[in-house]
Amino acid sequence: MAAIDCAAGGRMWLLHTASTSYALALTAQDAPKHVHWGPPLTLTQALSVVGPDPEPANSFDGAADGLEELAVDGGPRFGPPSLQVRFADGTRAFEWLFLGHEIVEGEGEALLRLDFRDRHYPLQVSLSYRVLDGVDVIERWTTVTNSGDIDVVELLRLDSAAWVIPPRTGYRLSETTGWWCAETQARRGEIARGETVLTSRRGITGHHANPSLMIDAGDAGEEQGEVWSAALAWSGSWRITTARTSDDRVSVTGGFGHDGVSWRLQPGETLATPKFLGLYHASGFGGSSRAWHDYAVKHVLPHNDEIRPVLYNSWEATAFTVNDQQQRALAVHAADLGVEMFVMDDGWFGRRTNDDAGLGDWQVNRERFPEGLKPLVDQVHRLGMRFGLWVEPEMVNPDSDLYREHPDWILHYANRQRTELRNQLVLNFARAEVADWALQWLRELVGEHGIDFLKWDMNRAFSEAGWPSNTGDPDRLWIEHTRAVYRIMDTLRAEYPGLRIEACGGGGGRIDFGVMARTDQMWTSDNTDAYDRLEIQHGFSQFYPPRAMAAWVTDNPNFLTGRTIPLPFRFHVAMCGALGIGGDIGTWAGEDLAYAREQIQLYKEIREVVQYGRLYRLSPPAADLTALSYLSPDGDRAVVFGFRTAGHYGRADAAVRLPGLDPAAQYVDEDSGVSHHGAVLLSHGLTLDLPAGDYASAVVRLRRV
Ligand code: DGJ
Repeated sequence: MAAIDCAAGGRMWLLHTASTSYALALTAQDAPKHVHWGPPLTLTQALSVVGPDPEPANSFDGAADGLEELAVDGGPRFGPPSLQVRFADGTRAFEWLFLGHEIVEGEGEALLRLDFRDRHYPLQVSLSYRVLDGVDVIERWTTVTNSGDIDVVELLRLDSAAWVIPPRTGYRLSETTGWWCAETQARRGEIARGETVLTSRRGITGHHANPSLMIDAGDAGEEQGEVWSAALAWSGSWRITTARTSDDRVSVTGGFGHDGVSWRLQPGETLATPKFLGLYHASGFGGSSRAWHDYAVKHVLPHNDEIRPVLYNSWEATAFTVNDQQQRALAVHAADLGVEMFVMDDGWFGRRTNDDAGLGDWQVNRERFPEGLKPLVDQVHRLGMRFGLWVEPEMVNPDSDLYREHPDWILHYANRQRTELRNQLVLNFARAEVADWALQWLRELVGEHGIDFLKWDMNRAFSEAGWPSNTGDPDRLWIEHTRAVYRIMDTLRAEYPGLRIEACGGGGGRIDFGVMARTDQMWTSDNTDAYDRLEIQHGFSQFYPPRAMAAWVTDNPNFLTGRTIPLPFRFHVAMCGALGIGGDIGTWAGEDLAYAREQIQLYKEIREVVQYGRLYRLSPPAADLTALSYLSPDGDRAVVFGFRTAGHYGRADAAVRLPGLDPAAQYVDEDSGVSHHGAVLLSHGLTLDLPAGDYASAVVRLRRV
């Protein structure tokens, strides 16, 4: 059960998660130092490891670098600061003065807040920790307040938290990096001495690095070994710095805004960071991933009681050339396949007939939809499906009425060019009137048409991110823009409780726990090639759960890679997440449609296990045989996916061992009726009966008898 103890005269705290402990204490100087993050300890045990305050080893070393809960710029500290301020007189150092703490134990959670202030200047700093019943993720964030009434305090860096990794050797860092159409590529390597920075300077979470990482001592595997992991719940630009000192202390500090972004804290103003989440797990990378999924499903995704519907999306079928008749025809085909939500993508508004015009003009294109959208929406509803619509609220094409009317609404500098990417510019949502305008047209669009689902896209990085009319503190747009996006999503959801949202950032540019808290699924990648997807989905699954991973079956040859892959393989890869269909189904052959119908039905039978189950990654990505298994929370059902990408003469597929099963139980294959001993599946594995050749795949359903 989540709980928090306090000891040492109110100067030491011990946090209990479902199966781990976390402890911190104050030094004699009131600085919060880290004590423990790992297996469960009692208060007495934790007190025994508090130890003396760290001392510098010599006149060139810091006392506590890599050992503090929030490293400040000030005193003998030489690591990357989590908090860096500049006071009005130019002083940069912060000195901790402890004011007190509060523990609030609520239903299913416990919250600890430590309050401090600077010893001289009017700056208050609070560190917050939240633990939740049944999960091991610890939520942390920092709040600062300018408690003076005259001077501004400049925040040069304000991270959410620092995570201290216990003393080990052989540290490795696992992260996911990538690029557009190749997001979340999992990478693992030794942590270099010095600082390793993962960051996005793009204004969005980004395709190039995900704000999440795992650290182990070089000895963890997929299912064994200690792993410390962290993820930032934020969808704007960010920075996470992993520091490894020469004497092998490792710590991670992270927060919103990239290097150089500052915030001028006005007298009386408070700034709260997003959450930086941390998890210790003793069952390897796979166990850590499952713990993150569990946390996401129980505490982040807004509707954990709802199964994700099978959706159809028009993008790859009709691109920008949508019209009423053609979308209605697609909807009929989709309903016939068993699709439950029909989503019309880009091209329905303004003069948006390609990507160089119309963004910002959110009126229905009457040439394409003479009666508006209502007839299409009604038809989709009559067909028994929900209706979803693509929007990209944060963007504008220069060739649009909106831009002609409000050329100053975009991020720009007075004397710099306005670089267009995908022929578009970024609206400055930090400006209240711009965010209000977006909220207004979105609420009208949703309300007037009875829209059930929005695909909220975002297709370019920030550049020339200026705000000329805000001469006092233009930098705050980096944070305020994302906060406005969150506010609009939250408001829409509150006003339309039936509305569901998909986060999309030109594919997987917005995948993080911040956006996840106000959306229902995330678009994983614009790359829908099933072979490439195996690797992308492997990376996605390190932190984010299968039910939030939107995955479509699209056409051959793949529009991006030109690859041709059999339909079963394409289906099975997409069935590993929230299944969608994205092909031009009006042109599919009869046998493909029949197969699609069958697979959608199969997905509906297994999706509870896929969307709520425990995921075991049974092979490294890009292996000849990739296998995954999902085990239902009660352990009664398992769904196993096998993918052979390349067949080799004379080489049989290895059997796949299925962790997590009950060795004493029998499991029956629901299709073949063959019965298996749990102990044998655990130790010798299951031989997947894959068809011969390349791109062969299978789904096996096992039920405990
Ligand atoms: C990028 C998205 O990722 C695609 O799925 C599609 O919605 C296009 N934008 C539309 O412009």
